[in-house]
Amino acid sequence: MAKMGNGEMCFPKDFLWGAGTSAYQIEGAWDEDSKTESIWDHFAHAKGNISNGETGDIACDHYHRWSDDIALMKSIGINAYRFSISWPRVLPHGRGIVNQKGLDFYARLVDGLLESGIVPFITLFHWDLPQALQNEGGFAARSTTEAFLEYADAVTRRLGDRVSNWITHNEPSVFTYIGHKYGKHAPGLQDSYTALRVAHHLLLSHGKSIPVIRANCPAAKVGMAMNVNYNLPASASRFDYAVWQYDYGMWTRWFLDPLYGRNYPPDLVEREIEIGELPPEGLDFVQDGDLKAISTPTDFLGINYYTRQLSRDAAVPENINAPVSVFQLSPSAENWQEMEGWEVYPDGLSKVLSWLYYEYQPQALYITENGASWSDAPDENGQVKDTRRISFLERHLASAHESLQSGIPLKGYFAWSLLDNFEWGYGFSQRFGLTWVDFETQKRIFKDSAWWYRDFIAKSRESSRCADRKT
Ligand code: FCB
Repeated sequence: MAKMGNGEMCFPKDFLWGAGTSAYQIEGAWDEDSKTESIWDHFAHAKGNISNGETGDIACDHYHRWSDDIALMKSIGINAYRFSISWPRVLPHGRGIVNQKGLDFYARLVDGLLESGIVPFITLFHWDLPQALQNEGGFAARSTTEAFLEYADAVTRRLGDRVSNWITHNEPSVFTYIGHKYGKHAPGLQDSYTALRVAHHLLLSHGKSIPVIRANCPAAKVGMAMNVNYNLPASASRFDYAVWQYDYGMWTRWFLDPLYGRNYPPDLVEREIEIGELPPEGLDFVQDGDLKAISTPTDFLGINYYTRQLSRDAAVPENINAPVSVFQLSPSAENWQEMEGWEVYPDGLSKVLSWLYYEYQPQALYITENGASWSDAPDENGQVKDTRRISFLERHLASAHESLQSGIPLKGYFAWSLLDNFEWGYGFSQRFGLTWVDFETQKRIFKDSAWWYRDFIAKSRESSRCADRKT
């Protein structure tokens, strides 16, 4: 690999360089302009769910500071911005009456981005379901898929003339399992069968929304953003292999197999019935035509990549779980994020991109999230020396570049995140931003990584050595 960190890595001319955020994590203004409670407002307002009792009530106050935040993007030189829309801002009751003030906010934001030469990438659902719909069963109820279509229609009617990139759902597996099986995210449920119903309705709402989006926005490019870890069995033993098959299966194949027209994986369905997560009749929530709708062709697949994950059968004693030569996780502290259990593993990014490309053949891929949590703060001169994040970005971009060289149709990269923000159950304790945010004063300070990213983008655009690169 050529020297890294500059234009010697040749990215295509039309490659999108971006950063991402999501509505609940940055907007604040949780009850302003007729917005109602989302499940995340509800969850965070209940005691004991979030570290230090924090909430997204104010977060980065982006609802009021969006124009300054666009200025930040311009300074970094990104040409794409991924953000999400708050469903209860647009449809306070989840369906029915459209709140024009809510849509006005996003229309102003989109116009501001376009004036600054930044391509908007909109995620429709980044987990903040209207509480009104949760009260009727949330995504476990089939009727919520119909509400999602109304929502997708209202948003694309208003913005579809100016926005062509649409992500239906962010990380449906995280919303499904962390929110409904493990109860650590909103709505805080712990029921495996409910979780699988939720997964199905998310997929169904995704597929059914595609024609709705296209009707309002003929130029639309539509896809979904999946989180995929570099997941491997911890050793060559059959026990670890079986655990890995299940982990990778339930978190990735369960979603992508139906999305790409293959139905739910029969081996996993059987297993879910066997262990009582599904009733004996199996997928009783699937109706005729659902799988066809779910596999409506998409234009791209978004990948959120953060870490390597080893699957180990901890229930089997080490002397029996042979061979026990377990892959070693990195012993160096440098290689761990502050997010517990998140190992820095750049090579996994190109591996995951090829796995998914060769397995499912999406037309295009985007890295819709990639980033690291370290809490480096401003020093006495106000400088945030987040050298670990710079190294993280540099090494992951090298890995992405390797994928491009091997012919993977990778079209863009979105660093997570533009700003330090509300990191779900961890509140403000995990800082993923390129920009440091003082949550008391709302002051924003670029970290060194933001300057580094700016230079990297600029060089990758200018480098004469890349003159012959494909566009
Ligand atoms: C992803 C989420 C995103 C952010 C990052 C750190 O799972 O999509 O909102 O929280 O993790």
